[in-house]
Amino acid sequence: MKIINSVEDLRKEIRTLKTQKQGTVGLVPTMGALHNGHLSLIEKCRKENEIVVVSIFVNPTQFGPNEDYDKYPRTLEADAKICKEAGADIVFAPSPRDIYDEYYFKNKETTLVCPPYDVVNKLCGKSRPGHFDGVCTIVSKLFNITKCDKAYFGKKDYQQLFIIKKMVCDLNFDIEIIGCPIVRETDGLAMSSRNTYLTPDARKKALSISAALHRAKELYKKGVNEAQTLIDTALAYMENQGLNVEYTEVVDIDTFEKTDKPKTGALMLIAARVSVDTGEDIDSVRLIDNIEL
Ligand code: PAJ
Repeated sequence: MKIINSVEDLRKEIRTLKTQKQGTVGLVPTMGALHNGHLSLIEKCRKENEIVVVSIFVNPTQFGPNEDYDKYPRTLEADAKICKEAGADIVFAPSPRDIYDEYYFKNKETTLVCPPYDVVNKLCGKSRPGHFDGVCTIVSKLFNITKCDKAYFGKKDYQQLFIIKKMVCDLNFDIEIIGCPIVRETDGLAMSSRNTYLTPDARKKALSISAALHRAKELYKKGVNEAQTLIDTALAYMENQGLNVEYTEVVDIDTFEKTDKPKTGALMLIAARVSVDTGEDIDSVRLIDNIEL
């Protein structure tokens, strides 16, 4: 497995591997701090492609000014080990200057890929203006750089997956987007690189997110099909644990539009902040999760 930093070297290596292996290129885009959720994507990619590229890049254009870009965990050595063990061929770990040009660093602006307003201005996009423009921009760049045939994304970030599928359709990328199931800790907490910010006490409170989703699904299975009742139940669960809930919504899985009477397979999504008392500081960690009803 090679660790490559520059776009030029990556293109060269992929060309070489393509002549050697004669097969499809699978891409797993990540921001690193890899856990078993990421690993499941890499393993699926390994099974379905001859050439496996994992990108590790904390992308500045998708972070807002008051978000955790600077403190986002960067653990390249451990990440590379995980990728190697999972059988990746290439880890692409560029620096921001390998990806964005001088103009960007001077003017804080670049050409952006902007999904439609209505798709972006809800759920996570509402509280994170510009976030999905940054995601679509970096993912487009990675698609153009790697010329991948397939790309793997987790359902943990379901709105992101939905938006990327839409972008691929709207911009005619000849790439298959594969959505992969959420990987959870044994107690139900969805795995996330941001879980490393949680103290044991905060982690316990964070568990109420997945518990609320499971409780809502149970109710739905018992015949409660009013979205508002499911939302109220989930909210009560989390607020009881002192969480600051940003949104709890139920959407149709095909359109991502709100639904009052969810059909089977509708998606319930939550974003909530858990406050973390480190002894020196009280901070809050934003977590997301979802479940198919
Ligand atoms: P990151 O948060 O590192 O996630 C990389 C991929 O791993 C995403 O597709 C995400 O949905 C998936 N993933 C994360 N946790 C998961 C879990 N518990 N189970 C299954 N899949 C999981 O998402 C990003 O990075 C960035 O926005 C990126 C697409 C790389 C663009 O910068």
